[in-house]
Amino acid sequence: MAYTRMSDANEITARYMDSIYFEQRLIDSVVADTSAEFWGEKFDSPVLTPAFSHIGRLNGRELSGLEEYSIAAKNCNILNFCGMMENDMFKKIADTGARTVRIVKPYADNGKVRDQFAYAESVGAFGIGMDIDHIFGENGLDVVVGEEMAVQTTDMLRSYVESTKLPFVVKGVLSVADALKCAEIGAKGIIVSHHHGRLPYAVPPMMILPEIKEALKDKDVKIFVDCGIESGSDVYKALALGADGAAVGRSMMPSLEKEGIPGVEKFLNNVTSELRFVMSCTGFKNVCKIDDSALY
Ligand SMILES: Cc1cc2nc3c(=O)[nH]c(=O)nc-3n(C[C@H](O)[C@H](O)[C@H](O)COP(=O)(O)O)c2cc1C
Repeated sequence: MAYTRMSDANEITARYMDSIYFEQRLIDSVVADTSAEFWGEKFDSPVLTPAFSHIGRLNGRELSGLEEYSIAAKNCNILNFCGMMENDMFKKIADTGARTVRIVKPYADNGKVRDQFAYAESVGAFGIGMDIDHIFGENGLDVVVGEEMAVQTTDMLRSYVESTKLPFVVKGVLSVADALKCAEIGAKGIIVSHHHGRLPYAVPPMMILPEIKEALKDKDVKIFVDCGIESGSDVYKALALGADGAAVGRSMMPSLEKEGIPGVEKFLNNVTSELRFVMSCTGFKNVCKIDDSALY
């Protein structure tokens, strides 16, 4: 049979995650508690929504898909994320009452970056951040929906951190080098991610997670992970390998499209229920206690 090259980071990531297995530790185990804490606030689960954008009204419903999943996040009491959008859309998301981290693009128009951060803070964002993995495109700097992106230096990122009282999250960290820079500038969180496979042959986020965790062990930085996460087992693997929380992504889309708010709630609750089951079956009572000792 001919050997087929595989450069797609989504596929590489899925294969890596599927190569990780659990042992069982049932005796003396109890029903696990999935609650999590981020920056001093409590949530019912370490499952996070993805930083999505460009999802309009689905199936003729009244609210945009972005508002719908934000409401579901609020109802499930989990941390919510959103991505590229103008301020009027972010206001609608803030108005859902979900505790939301707004991820702003690395726009070439730096005034727009700063305006979006300041606006997010003024209307009650829970956190702000930037997806640095959209800086480059195949023709040099990226252009996203007609908007030009720009290089982001350590000093620029530091200035964003210093401009806000909110936790600042850098999304698209996929090396110890970048993780250490994020810690150095005072970011309060990172999302270990290849942004659903932008970089060919990108290392699976969960493969590099233990190294990043070790590098940040004395730093006050929450480590989140995304890409390919679709079940409680996936979230468990992320936590066992060093994450504090894990975001579902495109796996949420079918539920969102079909059933909107109740569909996403059901999906998120199922992910958390499976996480609880795997934690219970592997002998971990609390999310913050999970380590890699039950992984094969
Ligand atoms: C429709 C859609 C829109 C997205 N928009 C953004 C965005 O604006 N900002 C961002 O940081 N990530 C964005 N992402 C990437 C997700 O936040 C996440 O990193 C990615 O989907 C994770 O991979 P997965 O889908 O395999 O789980 C988007 C993804 C999708 C599918």
